Amino acid sequence: MRVTLQEILGFKKRGERFPMLTAYDYPTAKVVDEAGVPLILVGDSLGNVVLGYDSTVFVTMDVMIHHTAAVVRGARRALVVGDMPFMSYQTGTVTALENAARFLREAGAQAVKLEGGEIMAETIKALVDRGIPVMGHIGFTPQSAYQIGQRVQGRSIDAAEKLVRDAHAVEDAGAFAVVLELVPSELAKLITERLTIPTIGIGAGPDCDSQVQVVSDMLGLYTDFVPRHAKQFAHLADDMRSAVTTYSESVREGSFPTEENGSSLKDEVLTELEARLRKGAG
Ligand code: KIV
Repeated sequence: MRVTLQEILGFKKRGERFPMLTAYDYPTAKVVDEAGVPLILVGDSLGNVVLGYDSTVFVTMDVMIHHTAAVVRGARRALVVGDMPFMSYQTGTVTALENAARFLREAGAQAVKLEGGEIMAETIKALVDRGIPVMGHIGFTPQSAYQIGQRVQGRSIDAAEKLVRDAHAVEDAGAFAVVLELVPSELAKLITERLTIPTIGIGAGPDCDSQVQVVSDMLGLYTDFVPRHAKQFAHLADDMRSAVTTYSESVREGSFPTEENGSSLKDEVLTELEARLRKGAG
């Protein structure tokens, strides 16, 4: 049985912390799901960590649908959230509804996420009222990075107060959870205490109800850049490099493949084939 919104809200009610992770493809979703993570986000961060762009603004709806469908095929139990990409919801409620519906209908996601607080409240309400579960996302919102910079949000008194208002606006609009990205820990704690929906932190300290990490960060798929808010729980890039090196050496020296990795012809077939080829050559 797939995790429900009520179960996610139940975690908060019981004061039980829970993990969320991103996934962008079938095999990763399968592993994350099998490990018991109840919420998987198909983040538009895939623009950075899968497609190699330097911003999420290049990610399109078609790309998101393609990846979300693969994740849904891999995740049998986790609730899958599709991240609405840049300008798929900011231009109006109808566009937002149509695009959010694509995540559910074409990709099989159970919810969508969109960035923005008070400014997006009307859109969130429109989606929720029509039966589309929404996760909010406030603080640092990567789709606005050109405008707001890549930095911690809510440090000044006015900015902190605005973030509290944003959090309430998202909750009041009907979102079932809200991501707090790059928010000072004390502010994230305060918001977490005030909301009845779970807060999901990334670079927002230890006191959120949940934590989310970009899966490639926590698996150590990149060695050249590790964000400050990330922790590498594995070093897969090193493991992959070493596996590729060993494979290459094995091919070069002829120790791979062996008979075990292939199939063989029956002796009589081989003998007959050689005979026919000899006849053909004569
Ligand atoms: O796109 C993403 O991966 C996200 C998370 C960082 C919350 O929005």
